[in-house]
Amino acid sequence: MARNRVGVIGFPVEHSLSPVMHNAAFAALCMDDWLYDCMAIPPDILRLGLREPMQHGYIGLNVTVPHKEAIMNFVRADETAKAIGAVNTVDFRTGIGTNTDAAGLLNDLAANGIEIADRRVLVLGAGGAARAAVYGLARAGADVAIVNRTMKRARRLVEQLRYTADIDGAQVMTLDEAATWGMSLIINCTSVGLHPHPTQSPWIFGVPFPAGVTVYDMVYRPANTALMQQCVAHGGRAVGGLGMLARQGAIAFELWTGVEPPIEVMLAALRGALEEKGEG
Ligand code: ATR
Repeated sequence: MARNRVGVIGFPVEHSLSPVMHNAAFAALCMDDWLYDCMAIPPDILRLGLREPMQHGYIGLNVTVPHKEAIMNFVRADETAKAIGAVNTVDFRTGIGTNTDAAGLLNDLAANGIEIADRRVLVLGAGGAARAAVYGLARAGADVAIVNRTMKRARRLVEQLRYTADIDGAQVMTLDEAATWGMSLIINCTSVGLHPHPTQSPWIFGVPFPAGVTVYDMVYRPANTALMQQCVAHGGRAVGGLGMLARQGAIAFELWTGVEPPIEVMLAALRGALEEKGEG
């Protein structure tokens, strides 16, 4: 049995690509005594469910839907997790919970040569993924605007980040207003367009699509979303979100193991897993 265990908890969690990604990394680096597995833990027994892996010597965990917020009651959230209001990575050795989503996004934007400092960046969405994005982007010096189907929720996100992270200046606008705002980058943090609804787009057909912008779509199933197609059709550049998934995982990998993550191996494992599902 592997001596060093890590894994992901969620409910459901069987669809998670994290085991494939991390175990591919362990295999590539001949880290034979490491294993990443997944555990389905219903929300009503989260505290108990956490005790199991802790008592069985797990080094740490990734945390996914629906536990990202509730788990903050049982770990010491670091500054990033507190600001974002969610934990996606726990280290049992320290009891600290952090959130690697914002850094994963920023790292992947950088890896793709997408500049954000002093640029206008439009965030689509106002859920947990959007909160991490706005936090990371604002701290990296972007001029951020948010469009969300439910405008009230976007305003609440701005209020929360002002309170939790002292972030000021993110503005809320309508999609019509955003169309002429002059952003250089649009980041989709909604679930619109996600498999099995690949023809849907968060940029409502009928609102003129800005020419020559870059789209970063956190949706990675399918690999080429309707939003990405709209962008390219209007002379822009589109990047899918698989790299963010790999890079948020890579940060956790390094935290647990102290070893530099083999990012290309992790990306290839993700692509392979999606191809196997016929969604590559
Ligand atoms: P996550 O934690 O992954 O961000 P979430 O909190 O459920 O997930 O947020 C989902 C986001 O997708 C929200 O911004 C949501 O918009 P609302 O706040 O109006 O619900 C957005 N979203 C989901 N389905 C949508 C749809 N059909 N049209 C437009 N926006 C949608």
